Amino acid sequence: MSSINLAVLLVLGLLLVTAQQSMQMSLRNPTAEIETSNCKIAFLRLGLVFTSDNNEKALLDSGLYEPDSENPSVDIAGRRFHIGTLNNSLIIYVKTGSHSVNVATAVQILLLRFRTSGIIFFGSSGSLDEKMLVPGDVAVPKAVAFTGVWEWKKFRSEEGKLVFGDFNYPENGENLLGTVEYETINMFSPNEAPKKVFWLPITTSWYNAATKALKDLKLRQCYSDECLPGKPKVVFGSKGSTSDFYVRNKAYGDFLNDNFNATTADTASASVALTSLSNEKLFVVFQGVSNVAGKTSSDSGVSYLASYNAFLAATKFINSIPTPRLACE
Ligand SMILES: *[C@@H]1O[C@H](CO)[C@@H](O)[C@H](O)[C@H]1NC(C)=O
Ligand SMILES: *[C@@H]1O[C@H](CO)[C@@H](O)[C@H](O)[C@H]1NC(C)=O
Repeated sequence: MSSINLAVLLVLGLLLVTAQQSMQMSLRNPTAEIETSNCKIAFLRLGLVFTSDNNEKALLDSGLYEPDSENPSVDIAGRRFHIGTLNNSLIIYVKTGSHSVNVATAVQILLLRFRTSGIIFFGSSGSLDEKMLVPGDVAVPKAVAFTGVWEWKKFRSEEGKLVFGDFNYPENGENLLGTVEYETINMFSPNEAPKKVFWLPITTSWYNAATKALKDLKLRQCYSDECLPGKPKVVFGSKGSTSDFYVRNKAYGDFLNDNFNATTADTASASVALTSLSNEKLFVVFQGVSNVAGKTSSDSGVSYLASYNAFLAATKFINSIPTPRLACE
């Protein structure tokens, strides 16, 4: 036997031993198989993130999620991380709850404790431009920003972008609230000094992959006996505005649209983006449109369809990503 063959056999033997060790470890600690195996027999999973019960209902109703038979979940800091497959793709999912701090915390834990190749977020948003997005549609933004981070300017002495007096009713004029300026946010990353950013770009390769994978996606138009008035569609390349308050006010929605070209408003996307960028992880965002800012809120059937359609987009995208495998170190 040649020495090269012998070396190959040796390596294979080592691999087997390591595989056994990591399997034994995984019985003791459910995250170990994913986390600690040196020789990477384990698979990288895709991290699926959403905020609400409505989103989780869509996932469970679809019948496409299969929990792992041995280690279906791990609880960390009060969050439950679910391990399983989505239409046969390996995923780990977490319901984060709402508001930026909860979303960011859950995404950070996911990225630290589990080996994932990237983050797929799906959720609900409000349309800021009815010509482009109506309830039931899914927006796949190219960039998102925190628009709830304000610097309040001194009355009369400085001027920010948002001038409250412009919104006086019935006539605009002056207002003691003065003006506010929109602030950038510090983005930390492993290899660079923190930098100030406003727009957070979606990972280009995943955004492009999404435009291909979702080209012919058929969205759902009806739920129980309720149907959307038109055929829902996927809209690519939008810009999303995120803040800790959900924008339901028409005047403010128009302001965000006019000043930032934002066509959706939500309370989570920018947190997912910032946390993923800080960890240099791939990520992509799918926003189901559940209402139009300033219009009477959609009923629960429409909200559910929005959630379901965003889920369908996320699933189609996940299934289009070849399951990444780790190599041996
Ligand atoms: C918004 O989009 C329009 C058309 O694409 C562009 O001309 C304009 O500069 C954009 N405005 C902002 C604030 O980005
Ligand atoms: C699930 O996978 C099957 C087979 O690959 C595919 O035909 C189907 O469209 C997928 N379902 C969804 C909701 O993406």
